[in-house]
Amino acid sequence: MVVAKISNSFFLSLSKNKLLNKGANKWGLRLGAAQVVAGLTIDSVIEVVRKLNEKGLVCTVDHLGEFVLEYDGALESTNVCIKTLEAIADTGVNCNLSLKLTQLGLDIDQNFCLTNMYKIMDVASKLGIFVRIDMEDYSRRQATLDILDELRKTYGNVGTVIQAYLYCAESDVKSLKGIPLRLVKGAYKESEEVAYQAKEKVNENFMEIIKEHLLSGSYTAIATHDHEVISKVKSFSENLGIPRSQFEFQMLYGFRTDLQQQLSDEGYVVRVYVPYGKDWYGYFMRRLAERPQNVSFALKGFLSK
Ligand code: FDA
Repeated sequence: MVVAKISNSFFLSLSKNKLLNKGANKWGLRLGAAQVVAGLTIDSVIEVVRKLNEKGLVCTVDHLGEFVLEYDGALESTNVCIKTLEAIADTGVNCNLSLKLTQLGLDIDQNFCLTNMYKIMDVASKLGIFVRIDMEDYSRRQATLDILDELRKTYGNVGTVIQAYLYCAESDVKSLKGIPLRLVKGAYKESEEVAYQAKEKVNENFMEIIKEHLLSGSYTAIATHDHEVISKVKSFSENLGIPRSQFEFQMLYGFRTDLQQQLSDEGYVVRVYVPYGKDWYGYFMRRLAERPQNVSFALKGFLSK
């Protein structure tokens, strides 16, 4: 337990280390990251998606990157998102797009970020592809919801993520009734001013917001590797007659692949979140923070280099 606690904060602080992130950009996929990141290029991610589709799993791809502070970098990321959408459409894979607003200039200027999102949404809506705005840490929550609100005035194919560890999660879900949401426990280190710290409270709130969104008739993506939550959602939806077409389970690429396949074989929609790109470091460190057991495969990956 103590090890888990130290590892959690340790990896979350490493995830924000700019120097290491810069280094990782040049290393290629290291430390076992290749098991959870689908390569460095669009071609490599499309190939992975195609194989997952063949197994009955649908996907969402994410071009890794966050906290971009230069205009050029944010414009480049915008173009990569557009190219990714075009590759999805050209190859006909069953896949949508996930992205982070800090990759598109949110920390530079909110209006600039919104303009970049309009460029992406114009293409996505022409191609009929759904776009999910990942939720980052609490300090970016309001800006993310404001941008979503603006985009929803024009586009129906965009949604975001609500994190169950936040006290405001339930009221956010209520105010986003009718909008497709991904519901998660939450991956960042947040203060007790804004977020539950105890796992039990987070789990409890997670079930509350899942029920809230499903019962309001809204399309819901339940993104978790927690089999207990998944079992509860299965029996809850069955008991209340919520159709399977109203929700999907989502898991990360490389995690609980047995469970992903099992749920899909049972007839549930399972969407795999498939990240790719050279900026894998922060994503990978957050995964290690969530589950220190993953350190063992990171070490194996490191030693095998
Ligand atoms: P958690 O890590 O709490 O584990 C609960 C239990 O499940 C464990 O005790 C264990 O029994 C079992 N378990 C978990 N992982 C396992 C494994 N690999 N193998 C075997 N058993 C395992 N966060 C965020 O803040 N913003 C976002 O936009 C997103 N987006 C997102 C998309 C998708 C598709 C997913 C799956 C997750 C996110 N997240 C996220 C991350 C999310 O907030 C959360 O941090 C992680 O999913 C970890 O929490 P879990 O609910 O998976 O279970």
